Amino acid sequence: MRFTFNNCVTVAASLLGLGQVQAQSQSTRQIAIVGAGAAGSSAAYFLQQFATQAGVHVNITLFEKTDRIGGRTRTINPFNDPAQRVEQGASIFVQANQIMFNAMTEFGLSQHVPDADADPKIAIWDGDCFVFTIDESAPTWWNTLKVILKYGLTAPQRAQELTAATITNFMRIYSGPFFPFQSLTQVAQDLGLSAATGVTGEQFLSANNIGVHYSHDIIQASTRVNYASNLANLHGLDTMVSLGANGATSVQGGNWQIFYEMAQRSGALIALNTSVVGIQKTTSDSQYTVQTTSSSTPGSPATYPGTFDNVVIANPYQFSGISARNGVLDSAIEQVPYVQLHVTHFTSASRLSPGFFDLPSGATVPGMVLTTLAQSDTATSGADGVGKAGFFSVNILGKATNPQTQQKEYVYKIFSPQAITPQFLSSLLGATVPATFTGGSSPITWHNPHVFQAYPKTSPRTTFQGPIVGSGVYYTSGMESFISTMETNALMGKNVARLIVDNMTAWESVKARDGEPWEKQRVLN
Ligand SMILES: Cc1cc2nc3c(=O)[nH]c(=O)nc-3n(C[C@H](O)[C@H](O)[C@H](O)COP(=O)(O)OP(=O)(O)OC[C@H]3O[C@@H](n4cnc5c(N)ncnc54)[C@H](O)[C@@H]3O)c2cc1C
Ligand SMILES: *[C@@H]1O[C@H](CO)[C@@H](O)[C@H](O)[C@H]1NC(C)=O
Ligand SMILES: *[C@@H]1O[C@H](CO)[C@@H](O)[C@H](O)[C@H]1NC(C)=O
Ligand SMILES: *[C@@H]1O[C@H](CO)[C@@H](O)[C@H](O)[C@H]1NC(C)=O
Repeated sequence: MRFTFNNCVTVAASLLGLGQVQAQSQSTRQIAIVGAGAAGSSAAYFLQQFATQAGVHVNITLFEKTDRIGGRTRTINPFNDPAQRVEQGASIFVQANQIMFNAMTEFGLSQHVPDADADPKIAIWDGDCFVFTIDESAPTWWNTLKVILKYGLTAPQRAQELTAATITNFMRIYSGPFFPFQSLTQVAQDLGLSAATGVTGEQFLSANNIGVHYSHDIIQASTRVNYASNLANLHGLDTMVSLGANGATSVQGGNWQIFYEMAQRSGALIALNTSVVGIQKTTSDSQYTVQTTSSSTPGSPATYPGTFDNVVIANPYQFSGISARNGVLDSAIEQVPYVQLHVTHFTSASRLSPGFFDLPSGATVPGMVLTTLAQSDTATSGADGVGKAGFFSVNILGKATNPQTQQKEYVYKIFSPQAITPQFLSSLLGATVPATFTGGSSPITWHNPHVFQAYPKTSPRTTFQGPIVGSGVYYTSGMESFISTMETNALMGKNVARLIVDNMTAWESVKARDGEPWEKQRVLN
């Protein structure tokens, strides 16, 4: 059940009204969450769940700058037809991602069935030649044999074992004594994962005796498609995450639906089109107010009605446009360099041109082309790091029906560090693409470019911005320098929810012991 209050605000379920009545004997924690992506939606969902289990009351306001829930998890519609939507941002999660999997099941969402028109062949291009090809429709033994013939038996085997061992270590984060954690630096160390985050992927693989050819060709192709980084420019843990693709799946109709459901089921008051631009302490010093702008009146911040006991900042702070006044943050939230990634979708009746890849005309180019560095390339960070190939990946997601012709056409997706130009597309498709991309005799019938501040450039590190950044103020995006995925950011949201509810129950017991009202205890502290 959902009520519309006004343009910007919807309330999910009637939990608020219920809370109001019961709150008479018990205080209600007023909680602001800023950002309704994976982290913020998950924080809201688990806050409601943990509070209910603990018999305490929360009143959550979820602020979201855009008009939709999901953040970097979003879909777009080829030919502007919502029935044919494809992932534009975060596209897969894996078997080990228990928050995502459980939520999908619990919310009755179904797994995306791979498009029969998606091409199961994968090739790795280094800008000069294909260094490897895999046919996913061929028997496993055949692909295994191909790998062994080229790279030997031990490198792939050791890489697989190292990935499995790293995932096993990581999985302990979901339960005690590791969960909940107040310090990400400490939990990384306790889980034994600092050794992986403290070195580059290249160093980590070499320290584990994984052969350089296999690392350079196969593993690097996966770090480039997953994190737009060469092995020399991201840390060992993200390298393992890039390899841990067992049971990869996505939600039919869009992964964002998981976060949409979480937000709805949290009972939060959801303020869409509302940017938080300031956080301020109240005069009593124990609570916060937030200043917001609405997308219809962007220039004029106003103090949002109500005061908050807790504020959860659930987006990368440096891009949030929030100014935190004196005393809100214990110390500045670290700025981290992000990877700027161009994600280009387009539709075309044409396949990739064999000429572009120096294949004989008439040859069929595999439907997924990943890339690695050429022998002549040096691994650098930033846009140049892409090397001679010029892009990180191009793939055919499947087919969509062109409403003009009723014919099915290929839906392509390209990841690149710079905008994809008509010139580049002309040579990729072997036909002239005009400056307007579509129209006339263009081989492209629909075109959608987007730029993301995608994820941090994860250079080696062993300290991480933690979840507690002020008195009652929490932050989720420190997780991204450790691992940036839907699952891990949702996990950080869940962790913050646990910390807040644990803090509430601790206060309730102080109150019960001393007979003082909760508010008073907090001021005295
Ligand atoms: C192209 C791409 C591909 C990816 N592929 C994968 C993948 O396959 N699998 C995977 O697991 N992960 C993938 N990721 C990473 C994943 O998308 C992120 O780790 C995760 O979605 C981040 O979630 P978040 O909630 O922390 O942040 P975000 O999703 O960025 O959400 C933050 C929200 O806060 C809002 N906001 C910001 N500032 C304010 C403000 N001042 N006031 C109010 N609201 C504000 C934003 O509008 C946004 O909705 C990919 C990312 C990209 C860009
Ligand atoms: C948010 O703003 C957009 C564009 O300004 C508008 O179309 C949409 O209806 C608004 N949504 C809400 C919930 O206010
Ligand atoms: C819940 O929070 C909103 C602020 O978004 C406030 O207006 C409302 O009064 C609060 N309700 C309760 C029951 O505390
Ligand atoms: C609860 O959080 C407040 C604000 O951060 C803090 O001052 C207090 O010590 C915490 N209380 C408990 C019992 O954890």
